[in-house]
Amino acid sequence: MVSGKVKKAVIPAAGLGTRFLPATKSVPKELLPIVDRPTIEHIVDEVHQSGIETAIIISRRGKSAILDHFERDVDLENKLKKEGKFELARRLNEQSELITIVSVRQSVPLGLGQAVYTARSLVGDEPFAVLLGDDIFDSSLPATLQLIQVFEKFQKPVVALMTVESSDISKFGCAGGEFIEENILEINSIIEKPSVEEAPSNFAVVGRYVLTPTVFEILKDLPPGKGGEIQLTDALAKLIEQEGLLGYFVDGYRFDAGDQLGFLMANIHFGLKNEKLKDRLIAFLKDEIKSS
Ligand code: G1P
Repeated sequence: MVSGKVKKAVIPAAGLGTRFLPATKSVPKELLPIVDRPTIEHIVDEVHQSGIETAIIISRRGKSAILDHFERDVDLENKLKKEGKFELARRLNEQSELITIVSVRQSVPLGLGQAVYTARSLVGDEPFAVLLGDDIFDSSLPATLQLIQVFEKFQKPVVALMTVESSDISKFGCAGGEFIEENILEINSIIEKPSVEEAPSNFAVVGRYVLTPTVFEILKDLPPGKGGEIQLTDALAKLIEQEGLLGYFVDGYRFDAGDQLGFLMANIHFGLKNEKLKDRLIAFLKDEIKSS
């Protein structure tokens, strides 16, 4: 049975960040800033705004700075308060007060499926969300909350989808199926990073999922797939047979913050939403465009 409230979110953050080397040689990519906040804060914000109580961060050796980030630093807070910077002092600690953040380490980097499997005992026997840190959404209703609403309505696991150029489909999980509502696909096939010929559609899975614990049972015995890794997408292909799977086209902007161009675009997008930066950033961009 797949019912129950989504109270926990799994945030895989054990990747090596190779697309951002050398920047990510000693700084986890999840801590690279989008304007003034590390990307992982955008994710944790979405978790909180989606009504979820606990974030489970899947980390690995060498990435403890992520957890340090969420630990209270009383000395720094006091220093800021003495300087009259009360708002900044409050923000330093905001997220860990709003949400319970726990962590588990993935000791062997065997892929996204294995990372999610690492969270099984912390998730327990209830539905849960998965948020990939490379995908940053800006939407009036948080992307994860949109998925939760679909999950609650149809009582089926659901993944976020986006239409991409066919030539880009090999960078994503790809889902094919039949539309049951304008924005909702009943998925009948899903395949990790297919070639253009193999792809059942140009509907790409973008990093948000609401899943059921059945996926842990599937992942337990799942053989490695694409790239020799345990693929979450392969587990979802099996989930179709057991519980069904929906695809939901999220309403909002999505940035691939794990890609250099996407990261720059996210910084510009959120920079333009920042009242203190907006006017000067626009002027700068206009000048840059003129002289490029
Ligand atoms: C992962 C998933 C893939 C999904 C993508 C979304 O791939 O394996 O199915 O489409 O995230 O960003 P990655 O980009 O980590 O290689």
